Parts: sequence; structure tokens; C-alpha cells
Amino acid sequence: MNILVTGGAGYIGCRLVPALLQAGHSVCVVDMLQFGDDGLAACRDKIDLIPGDVRTIAPQMLDGFDAIVHLAGLSNDPTAEFNPEANKAMNLDGTLRMATLAKERGVRRFVFASSCSIYYTQTPDDDLRDEEYPVNPQAPYSWSKRQAEIGLMELTDHNFCPLALRKGTVFGHSPRMRYDLVVNTFTRDAFAKRRLSIHAGGRMWRPMLHIDDAVEAYQAALTAPEEAVRGQIFNVLSDNFTVLKLAHEVRRTLEGHKGIRLDVDIQQVGISRSYRVNGDKFREVIKFAPSHPINAAVDEMWDILECGVDIDNPIYYNIRWLELLCDMERRLRAMGGSPL
Ligand SMILES: NC(=O)c1ccc[n+]([C@@H]2O[C@H](COP(=O)([O-])OP(=O)(O)OC[C@H]3O[C@@H](n4cnc5c(N)ncnc54)[C@H](O)[C@@H]3O)[C@@H](O)[C@H]2O)c1
Repeated sequence: MNILVTGGAGYIGCRLVPALLQAGHSVCVVDMLQFGDDGLAACRDKIDLIPGDVRTIAPQMLDGFDAIVHLAGLSNDPTAEFNPEANKAMNLDGTLRMATLAKERGVRRFVFASSCSIYYTQTPDDDLRDEEYPVNPQAPYSWSKRQAEIGLMELTDHNFCPLALRKGTVFGHSPRMRYDLVVNTFTRDAFAKRRLSIHAGGRMWRPMLHIDDAVEAYQAALTAPEEAVRGQIFNVLSDNFTVLKLAHEVRRTLEGHKGIRLDVDIQQVGISRSYRVNGDKFREVIKFAPSHPINAAVDEMWDILECGVDIDNPIYYNIRWLELLCDMERRLRAMGGSPL
């Protein structure tokens, strides 16, 4: 297939793009390169990489593709809350613009990166939320994902096959690394402080997804029969964990495999957004069988940290990086556009 990946230079894209190449697809990446393109260095000569913004990309850019994987956008709550207007323009309007153009230009399949954070609740409960569970998210990020899903599904017809993957929180190493995702943060804290800190007693539920399983989910979504996925929303997760259980998984892995002693500091106060999600539909319809455990991801991230990573570099934390870029932009403007 000839595949366009928007946001392909991001955390998930930098693992997905090489896997698509490996599977024999041709890949073009469109990305505004908020985090640069270093994460694609290993496959840079095998792809078309087009610096560009989904809000403004020329329509003819979409000609000739069989499918689009749409990952581009602000990718967590803090960045969406930092600038809700930009979040709406990127995550909702940009998504619907790309999908409408795709349909007009004859791209048949459109796989949208949605999120299980659509199911957030303030108080932890044990309900398993499936795709039929009524949702009405209010936070900018999850609101934009939900509204984009609604608009996207309205475009469905026999020539256009959109689908949305509501992914759980992803974990594991990527060449464009994020340490602002819970398991990755725990692994970093274990490395740097030998201590994991947990708020709200760690009672909050999180659906989790290994990055290799996320990659396999996208590959399956691209190749599944149209009639099985057309106009469908799927929850995609390996399993649900409480944050406390996640911390203990990380601790057990590092104690058992690396001989590291860790403290787990449990505070009872703090925010406790929680959601527990049912992933049966994707497993049944797509025969998706997530197989990558947390301990494998923790081992891999630990080994990479041991090779020397500047974990304080803001580029690994989306909100810190965005704040920094916006501050630089303001300073550059004040200087008349150039520091020299
Ligand atoms: N990482 C997770 O745990 C997770 C979970 C659920 C859903 N998602 C969704 O999956 C997608 C990818 O997540 P990620 O972790 O790789 O994020 P990321 O922040 O690492 O990457 C996002 C990429 O999109 C690009 N981008 C942002 N706005 C753009 C625009 N307007 N035009 C073109 N490119 C743009 C950025 O430059 C970046 O390379 C996002 O849509 C995110 O909301 C991620």
C-alpha cells in the first residue's frame, strides 16, 4: 500500500513508520516537526518526509495514497489545555479537513488516532467501558478527539472507510521518546531517583498499550477487510491496570531483572481521573492479540537509559517543550524574527 502518515515523526510514528516499511508498504510522512525529525533518522532515506501542517496542507498532496494514518495533533491533556484554540484547530478541524480531503481525492481508508481518555471519570469505579458506553468528554483534548470521531464517522460511505482507534496510554521506547507517559515516567524515575511517586493512592484505572502492540494495531487496521472496520470505533489496549499496580510492575521488573531496589511513595491526595476500558471488540473483529508485556518495555527503556540519556531535556515532555517553543517564538518576534 501507499500510506500517508500524518504526525509520523512523533513518538508512535517513529515506531510505526519503520514497521510499515518492513511490511513492504511505501510511506510518506507529513509532520510539522515540533520535535524535529531525528526519530526517523534510521529510515529517512526510505520515506518521503514532508514538513507540513494538516491545517494547511495542499489538497493535491493526498493524491495517490491508499490509506492515511492520522496521528498528527496535540497528543495529551496539558498541551491541549495550554492552547484550547490551537487544540481545536489541530485535533478537530485539522482531522476533519484531512478526512474530507482524503475522501475527495479518493483515499479509501482513514485510520484516526483517537484515545481512551474519552472515557475519563473523576471518581474511580470498576465499570468496564466499551465503545457503546455513553461519553461526553469536556476536557479540551478528549473533547476534540470525540468531536473528530463524530465528524469522521459522518463521512463514511462505500468509497470511504474511516475508523478510529481509541488507544490506551502507550508505553515503551521510541526513537522520538516521551517520558511524560506513566510507565515511561516510572522507568525514568526509577533510574534517576530510585523512587516512584504515586498520588491519590494509585487507585486510578488506566488502559495500557505497549508501543509494539500499538504498531500492530495500526497495521491490522490498515489491512482488515473494509466491511469489518468501515465507520467503526475500536478501543485498543493490552490491559487495564491501576496506577499502583503499574508502579509495582515496574518495581518488580527492575528488582528481578536489574537488581535495583526501589521505594514506592504513595500519597493519598491528588487528582484521580480514572477509566477502565473493554478492548474485546478490536480483539474479536480484527483478531488483535496484544502480546507485549510491561516488563519487556521497562527492560528496554532501562537499557537505553543506562547508555546515557539527558532525561531533563524538555523535548521528552510535550508540555514543557511546547511552552519552550512558544516562549522562543515570542522572543524571536520581539527581536524582529531572528536572533542574529
Ligand atoms: N501516546 C499515547 O499514549 C497516545 C494514546 C492515545 C492516543 N494517542 C494519539 O496518538 C497520536 C500520536 O501520539 P504520539 O504519542 O506519537 O504524539 P507525539 O506528540 O509524540 O507526536 C505528534 C506528532 O504530530 C505532529 N503534529 C502535531 N500537530 C501537527 C499538525 N497540525 N500538522 C502536522 N503535524 C503535527 C508533531 O510534530 C509530532 O511529531 C496523537 O494523535 C495522540 O493524541 C496517543
